[in-house]
Amino acid sequence: MHKILFIGGGQMSEAIIRALINHNVYAPTDIGVNDIAPARIDYLHSTYNIQDTCDLNGVEADLIVLAVRPQDAWHTILTQLQPLNSQAVLISIIAGVTIAQLKQALTVNLPVVRTIPNTLTDTGFGYSGVATDEQDSYCVKQQNVLTFLTGFGKIEPIDESLLDIFTGYSVAGPNYIYYFYESLVDAGVLAGLPRDKAKRLAIENLHGAASMLTISQKHPRELLDINNSPAGVGMHALYELNNSDFAAGLQRSVLAAVKRTVALGIKTH
Ligand SMILES: NC(=O)c1ccc[n+]([C@@H]2O[C@H](COP(=O)([O-])OP(=O)(O)OC[C@H]3O[C@@H](n4cnc5c(N)ncnc54)[C@H](OP(=O)(O)O)[C@@H]3O)[C@@H](O)[C@H]2O)c1
Repeated sequence: MHKILFIGGGQMSEAIIRALINHNVYAPTDIGVNDIAPARIDYLHSTYNIQDTCDLNGVEADLIVLAVRPQDAWHTILTQLQPLNSQAVLISIIAGVTIAQLKQALTVNLPVVRTIPNTLTDTGFGYSGVATDEQDSYCVKQQNVLTFLTGFGKIEPIDESLLDIFTGYSVAGPNYIYYFYESLVDAGVLAGLPRDKAKRLAIENLHGAASMLTISQKHPRELLDINNSPAGVGMHALYELNNSDFAAGLQRSVLAAVKRTVALGIKTH
């Protein structure tokens, strides 16, 4: 019997599987995968040595991770799903599809946990948002569920009503940082630094600034005040950033991500 079965072996499943195996949370033999594309199963089998599970009728697993896209046939999958293990738990990572929708599609009585996994799974950083309804809230304290969820990052328990916001703000979060980093490196190159130097300096400042915020517990404005002397270099730079609509652009970008998450969920029913 598998400890975990992934239904949908795409990018997110692979990132989670890689972290679980690399962090020795599960052995490859504990993990099964079901995917519509045979080539994808072959790839996951040859890369991670995990097992193919074709039949959803008579699934043997403790945890069943539903990892298809919101626009895929998750409804049909859940209709067909017949776990043999009466203690099995369904963990959905599908963005935008609610616990009520998932339960409505199931033809068996399975507890449902919704998580939006973080995408920093290889690093040990990153929060995955986790929600249940009241009836299944005991599940998130269950050892096998906790072992799985903490096997690829940290857990942030969150009310389901906030999960779409969590997705657009926190799960998409590394994208904003990657883009900021890329833009900053380009700025260094524009000013005349060689790219490899600009990259090294920018990543050090990213790590260091994050540590300063955590260690000092100071408001960012206080840290900015310390760094910005009257008519100084930093203040001139901030003036231009303020002129550029930087903060509002970033905030609009987060709101667009949240809006898209909501829209994907609505489209599926
Ligand atoms: N990627 C992220 O950063 C991220 C973050 C948080 C949450 N999520 C959620 O995670 C889920 C998966 O995202 P992803 O990025 O991993 O997508 P993905 O790479 O497209 O993976 C989905 C996989 O499911 C397969 N599939 C489609 N229909 C299927 C079916 N009926 N039965 C079995 N397998 C099926 C797809 O095969 P085909 O490609 O051949 O159709 C594909 O291999 C999504 O619901 C998304 O909302 C993703």
